[in-house]
Amino acid sequence: MELSIPHGGKLIDRIDVSKKTDQIEAEIELDSIALSDLELIANGAYSPLTGFLGEKDYQSVITNTRLENGLLWSIPITLPIDALTAEKLTIGQEVKLTFNQSIYGVITISDIYQPDKRLEALSVYRAEDTSHPGVRKLFDRPSIYVGGSIILVKRLEKAFLSFHLDPKETRNTFKQVGWKTIVGFQTRNPVHRAHEYIQKVALETVDGLFLNPLIGETKADDIPADVRMESYHVLLEKYYPKNRVLLAVFPAAMRYAGPKEAIFHAIVRKNYGCTHFIVGRDHAGVGDYYGTYEAQELISQYEDELGLNILKFENSFYCKACENMATAKTCAHHSDDHLILSGTKVRNMLRNGEHPPKEFSRPEVIETLIAGMNEKIKC
Ligand code: ADX
Repeated sequence: MELSIPHGGKLIDRIDVSKKTDQIEAEIELDSIALSDLELIANGAYSPLTGFLGEKDYQSVITNTRLENGLLWSIPITLPIDALTAEKLTIGQEVKLTFNQSIYGVITISDIYQPDKRLEALSVYRAEDTSHPGVRKLFDRPSIYVGGSIILVKRLEKAFLSFHLDPKETRNTFKQVGWKTIVGFQTRNPVHRAHEYIQKVALETVDGLFLNPLIGETKADDIPADVRMESYHVLLEKYYPKNRVLLAVFPAAMRYAGPKEAIFHAIVRKNYGCTHFIVGRDHAGVGDYYGTYEAQELISQYEDELGLNILKFENSFYCKACENMATAKTCAHHSDDHLILSGTKVRNMLRNGEHPPKEFSRPEVIETLIAGMNEKIKC
């Protein structure tokens, strides 16, 4: 088996730090979501996208979960601007993309359009109430979208430098170490025992694990990325064989779009070179907006055309009678014996000053999280 072919056939590369921008006057100020999307379009993680979605692709994604050319795509990657900025822009124009006074990119405008955000919310999030963090973000962002291909003219300040790899680099690494089958793992949480269990079950049959925590914008009560990174290092050092895991960050924003985001997460990991991708229970979910296995059900409909193997895991728990991690597929005991784990539970316990038990999370991970969170409180 070869590394996965990028989505749409080839890895996009739209990085050109030699491109001159001094002649370009018009400017769009990016928010942090658009800045991270700019980087991920440019480095090929969002292949085949070459820019922010134009109107036809946008309509097609929200109505058919496909780009206009028919290729599967589930999350609209958009560039929202306000009316005042829109007034100054014209189709065909080159515009600087800035963040904190620095120029990071250039867009050649192909479309300026008014989205129907309610329709977008219902399609992408299957919700329209703003207590859903993804829906709230969608409505909080400006109301006009700009589409067009982009060039990244300046690399972003890389948080976690040596773990910030482009798809080209992860693919090279996989080739160098000789991995042919690689399972991708998305998380926005510290790795708890259920995560570890499903990763290791997968590792029993594939060559390597690509641990790819999302470190872009998350909701305020998620554990900050720098604290999580520390906990991943500690966990990998102590509990995983050295030569079976590649840790690299996924610098995108979390959408909390459940089933639709699971498809997006899978496509991106294929672009990073994965041949397999884990979708467990309530993947990318929030609150009780999505059914436990809704993401698995939706992604199953597209598995053939996705071009990577989706490893679906049932809700995993620690069973006191088995003295082991298990799922309903492997455990014979009553639910009274089951310790149900989730990132939300770990977060709540930590917030209440409780020490999650070792069946929940490795003690070294908990210690790192507590130390990291205490440090944050002091600052
Ligand atoms: S998220 O990015 O998908 O929101 P999270 O950390 O909650 O991150 O989950 C990471 C992956 O592990 C997802 O595929 C999720 O479905 C899976 N997962 C999390 N907890 C469990 C569990 N207890 N049993 C099975 N799968 C789980």
